[in-house]
Amino acid sequence: MKNKIPIIIDTDPGHDDALAIMFAVKSGIFDIKAITTVAGNSTIENTTRNARYILKLLDREDISVYSGSAKPLVRELIKAVVHGESGLEGIDPKNESKLTNDAVDKIIKIVKENENITLVTLGPLTNIARAIEEDNEAMKRVKQIVIMGGAIKVPGNKDRVAEFNIFVDPDAANIVFNFPVKKFLVPLDACNHVQLQLEDFEKLNGTSLYEPIMAMMKPYIENIFKDEGIKAALMYDPLTIYYLFNPDACKVKEYDLKIETKGELTRGMTVAELRSSTKDYNINVIETIDGESFKKDFINILKQEK
Ligand code: RIB
Ligand code: CA
Repeated sequence: MKNKIPIIIDTDPGHDDALAIMFAVKSGIFDIKAITTVAGNSTIENTTRNARYILKLLDREDISVYSGSAKPLVRELIKAVVHGESGLEGIDPKNESKLTNDAVDKIIKIVKENENITLVTLGPLTNIARAIEEDNEAMKRVKQIVIMGGAIKVPGNKDRVAEFNIFVDPDAANIVFNFPVKKFLVPLDACNHVQLQLEDFEKLNGTSLYEPIMAMMKPYIENIFKDEGIKAALMYDPLTIYYLFNPDACKVKEYDLKIETKGELTRGMTVAELRSSTKDYNINVIETIDGESFKKDFINILKQEK
């Protein structure tokens, strides 16, 4: 795969995960070594079945799916509400979950066998943290980890301070945020202003993805309105892929970020050192993404029939 970016996508589909996988596959710029699934938006059975469904829709079942963690490192699983019970409300995937329970081993194996792997994480960080704990040395070979998560100068979306992915498994996030490899974070700060409507997806009319995407987006928008009072499809995970697709559309700054793992009111908060004192930078934060540029590129890529 000449000059393609070698990646593993760790994900908990999820409506926005589904769109992110479609965008990554159809962009043609990635050599997707594997998709690994994690519980988060829904159970591991559902997120794995949904990942397989999306690849079937894309006619890319050649991409391996390895299922992983059914629950956070030490806590009970708290699922999202905006994706419905199945994790992909609006469609009824007929395929099986086919759990393999080997995501962690496969992440380590792929990282060992390949140079410059980028890990893209779209769900709770449980699989990545387990891989780091299992083979710390091997995981240092990773080129970078690009993480959807966190809320720095904006409120959370799970509660007043925490973003969902970090909230679900803050202990795993703590391990990953302290791991000495290059990391990029796409927090709510960069995502909240990018809001798509059904009219935006109408531009896909006539393509093979139009029907399933519209079937997914209708309940996704309704559920977000009920849960967060915003009548729009929020693009958290596609924006994370977009950072790799068009980094020039993104403003990036180094941060010293810590994860709250003990707080009763602040579990999963990403706590930034914003004072001017010397900082122990540990992560590059995508502070802003050009929403119009994203929307144009995103829809154009999804429209491609190839
Ligand atoms: O907070 C948004 C994140 O949580 C997204 O990845 C969404 O899919 C959910 O996993
Ligand atoms: Ca997700």
